[in-house]
Amino acid sequence: MPEKIKWGIIGPGKIAGKFAQDLQLVENAVLHGVASRDAGRSAAFAQKYNAVHVFENYEALAADPEIDIIYVATPHVFHFEQTMLCLRSGKSVLCEKPFGMNAREVKIMTDEARARNLFLMEALWTRFIPGTEKLIELISQDAIGKIHYVKADFGFLGDGNKSSRVNNPDLGAGTLLDIGIYPVYLSLLLLGIPDQIKAVATFTDTGVDSFCAILFDYLSGEKAFSESSILSNTPIEAMIYGEKGSIKMHSRFHHTEKLTLQLNDNTSETFQNVYIGNGYYHEIVEVMECLKSGKTESEKMPHLMSLDLIRTLDNIRENIGLKYKSDE
Ligand SMILES: NC(=O)c1ccc[n+]([C@@H]2O[C@H](COP(=O)([O-])OP(=O)(O)OC[C@H]3O[C@@H](n4cnc5c(N)ncnc54)[C@H](OP(=O)(O)O)[C@@H]3O)[C@@H](O)[C@H]2O)c1
Repeated sequence: MPEKIKWGIIGPGKIAGKFAQDLQLVENAVLHGVASRDAGRSAAFAQKYNAVHVFENYEALAADPEIDIIYVATPHVFHFEQTMLCLRSGKSVLCEKPFGMNAREVKIMTDEARARNLFLMEALWTRFIPGTEKLIELISQDAIGKIHYVKADFGFLGDGNKSSRVNNPDLGAGTLLDIGIYPVYLSLLLLGIPDQIKAVATFTDTGVDSFCAILFDYLSGEKAFSESSILSNTPIEAMIYGEKGSIKMHSRFHHTEKLTLQLNDNTSETFQNVYIGNGYYHEIVEVMECLKSGKTESEKMPHLMSLDLIRTLDNIRENIGLKYKSDE
């Protein structure tokens, strides 16, 4: 892999803009090209974020021999077909969360990457945020002892726009896949796959979940509770309770810069872990290091974690009765 890594971006929308800003902060990262269905949008994006080339369509970008890796940043329902297009064109891929709409899609994507010896990762940026790294360190140092209970929420007041990707089922809308994925991921990261899942939801009149409450139960006794909502603004915090005390991941927990360790003897300590740029810097660095060392998966966000995550989300959807066209 050359010293400089050339990136392509598919879907120059909201998140792609924040990502492209952070790409400019990463040494040896080059935004080689961008592709949109709309020529004006890709040209404006290229100018704003210094992309070297503008491609007429996604296929042309995927076919460019100079590109090393493509970031897929479109709504959920397109992740599968666009990631497969890139992999089949011989490109490594970083794809936004959720990786696919269901476990079937994610299994095909990960199998394809493995068969082609290409790097593939779900852009679950939370895993690479310094605050999360600190949390993992504290847990591994046994700071709160055995974990009893994890509680995390992610809620904001939606704008009710029926055609947006937050409400439109044809774009994979609903709180679970969009934001519930973060508390669910945190519970999996800390406690693993639950033995039993119970979930309840409220639905929009477009037929997707506007609120979802999820309880994970483990045979070894631990519990985890996750909430996601577009009906209300919620604290967006996480609490991890253990036998010796608790750790609070301050708002917004999924890219937290502050942790508070509170022990049962009433002593407490606060840790500040500032992230760089918009926070996407850290996942970009991880991807670049993997590419430079010839890895096809990140050890921090491996395919197996993405499969566990989507299988858990599938299970929750079955619990609440949420289906998409991609399930048919
Ligand atoms: N990691 C994070 O912090 C984070 C934050 C927000 C979102 N996300 C994820 O990023 C993805 C994109 O979210 P976003 O809010 O950035 O999306 P967005 O701005 O609404 O759209 C991004 C791009 O997707 C394509 N697109 C949008 N609507 C489409 C439609 N109806 N049909 C076909 N293509 C469409 C467009 O590409 P063209 O320009 O080619 O038309 C658009 O530029 C989602 O999967 C979301 O879960 C991640």
